[in-house]
Amino acid sequence: MKVVILETPQAVANYGAAMFIRQLTSKPTSVLGLATGSTPLALYQQLIAANQAEIISFKQCSTFNLDEYLGLAPEHPQSYRHFMNEQFFQHIDIELSNTHVPNGAAQNPLTAGDEYEALIKAHGGIDIQLLGIGRNGHVGFNEPSSCLASRTRVKTLTQATIDDNARFFSAEEYQPHLSITMGIGTIMEARNVVLLATGESKAEAIQATVEGPLSASCPASALQMHLSTTLIIDDAAASKLKDKAFYQHIERENQALLKRLSH
Ligand code: GLP
Repeated sequence: MKVVILETPQAVANYGAAMFIRQLTSKPTSVLGLATGSTPLALYQQLIAANQAEIISFKQCSTFNLDEYLGLAPEHPQSYRHFMNEQFFQHIDIELSNTHVPNGAAQNPLTAGDEYEALIKAHGGIDIQLLGIGRNGHVGFNEPSSCLASRTRVKTLTQATIDDNARFFSAEEYQPHLSITMGIGTIMEARNVVLLATGESKAEAIQATVEGPLSASCPASALQMHLSTTLIIDDAAASKLKDKAFYQHIERENQALLKRLSH
């Protein structure tokens, strides 16, 4: 995997946004895999700005979100569908009917995963998948011990994840402890993966993702087997990497090579 270490969370967002802008420019009909959480928000702001400046258009593209809370209807203010509408979709020129989020209110949650998989397939697969990461190394809601070949399905959340996400819920509000999430196998089929992480609290998970063994104990470590994954992280999230200087050296060499090739 390619590890890009930048000084600030804003630089992380800018670098990630540039990758999405390049993708949409070269293929306006791209299928984008999207994520929730606080980390991607600054990237979405960049894409909104690029759309409003008419640098990119989302008119022909479609999107698939990673996950949703089970038991929350799409219009529920804490649902990930609502989050995406508020934070991203309503600010860009996308057709809402081209945006997809797993259905947290599905009649039969046990078959909803297969239906979501079929829909992704019918759209030709995901061109570029955006990921955040949980402090325990989860991606989407694939908690530690998730099958590394898993597909979209119901997953039980760990107490650590429930506690981490409690900040989005008020004290008396119901907080789901189940989710429906793309599997690790689903994510691994995306043609390109972009994982963003910022802040000290993600440093351990990033170390395990990059340098730890390939293990379901850190679901993100499965990305070691992905052909085109870019980790974009800030200095704080990189602080526990043993070979940080080497990754920085590789990135400088890559940039120099690209510069030479463009002349
Ligand atoms: C949730 C989401 C993940 C996200 C994670 C980290 O659990 N299901 O997709 O990566 O939170 O969120 P944050 O970016 O807010 O730290």
